[in-house]
Amino acid sequence: MQIPTDTVSLRDYEYRFHERVDPAIRAYIAGAAADAVTQRENGAAFERIRLMPRALVDMSQASARSELFGETLDYPILIAPTAYHKLVHPDGELATVQGASLTRTWMTVSTQASVTLEEVARASTAPLWFQLYMQPRREDSLALVRRAEQAGYKALVVTIDAAVSGIRNVEQRAGFRLPDGVSAVNLAGFAANEPIRASVGSPIFRGMLAHAPTWSDIEWLCGQTTLPVLVKGLLNPADVPAALNAGVSGIIVSNHGGRVLDTLPATIDVLPAVAAAVAGAVPILLDGGVRRGTDIVKAIALGASAVLLGQPVLHALAVGGMPGVVHMLTLLQTELEAAMALLGRPTLRDIDASTLMGRTA
Ligand code: FNR
Ligand code: LAC
Repeated sequence: MQIPTDTVSLRDYEYRFHERVDPAIRAYIAGAAADAVTQRENGAAFERIRLMPRALVDMSQASARSELFGETLDYPILIAPTAYHKLVHPDGELATVQGASLTRTWMTVSTQASVTLEEVARASTAPLWFQLYMQPRREDSLALVRRAEQAGYKALVVTIDAAVSGIRNVEQRAGFRLPDGVSAVNLAGFAANEPIRASVGSPIFRGMLAHAPTWSDIEWLCGQTTLPVLVKGLLNPADVPAALNAGVSGIIVSNHGGRVLDTLPATIDVLPAVAAAVAGAVPILLDGGVRRGTDIVKAIALGASAVLLGQPVLHALAVGGMPGVVHMLTLLQTELEAAMALLGRPTLRDIDASTLMGRTA
């Protein structure tokens, strides 16, 4: 796979992705819910925020390094969990994790990965997190947790915003189906969800939600493992006390990249209120629409410790394979450093609210 020389930003990877990839697969990956209002808003909300530089600051000791859960994070950029990397590359998550390792980027591996979590771990030299979709039966969730612990994963990310699938009209119109040879291999052998009986009420209310997790399941999970547990998909500050009471070690502010419920707010717009509610109790991460180094600055200024990337990783993997992932991550690291330099903010700690126009620290 040749990376075209004019691919110089994450948007360029997205553009090439749409040129090259099969329409049905593109529809799944781009796959916003309903009318894509939230997906567009994730990016638009970043664009509305203006930065405020400080001039002639001493940058001789500058660094984008930080610590998270006791480990050094070179850049505040992680890979978000996304399903089925084999849709865009024959080696799937193995290619992604090699790219992540070469840039020392932490990757979150999806429950719905198309390569087993053990194989991904063996191919990685950088820390990995495991994203858990709570299974209808607790013993199945626990089996996944034990496998992730055994394989050396450093944290668990429980996704809490997708109890049922979104209304994925883009995907439906394109008639997306998983191709042969691509499946959620980590779930092989688990009992399928009970059949949905639509005779009384809707399939949603009468069927799928019977086993959907609640905060007591998060509390149970936190008691089952010594790994840090993060919840992913929290948007409402009103949910913060329940998360902290359940014992979570971190919160990922996310709307699932606009894939689940349309017209939810942009993540960057709710971050300040969530950060106020968390009040430093646990680290906060954010995903959704991060495409530029300046977006990362804005997230950190408003209270995030780091951001995660979803679609851009799949775009880069599809267009450039493992080297594409390395290149895309490097572009973003460079953009972040350039933004810090030009804003006169030598470390992530210096990126406070005063980095944004109209706000004070
Ligand atoms: C996702 N996302 C996701 N999240 C999750 O918790 N488990 C999963 O298996 C998946 N799968 C998945 C597949 C694809 C194709 C995409 C694009 C996304 C959501 C993902 O973790 C993240 O929240 C968003 O992708 C972030 O938004 P951006 O970076 O894509 O704008
Ligand atoms: C998605 C699921 C896998 O967003 O989380 O497609």
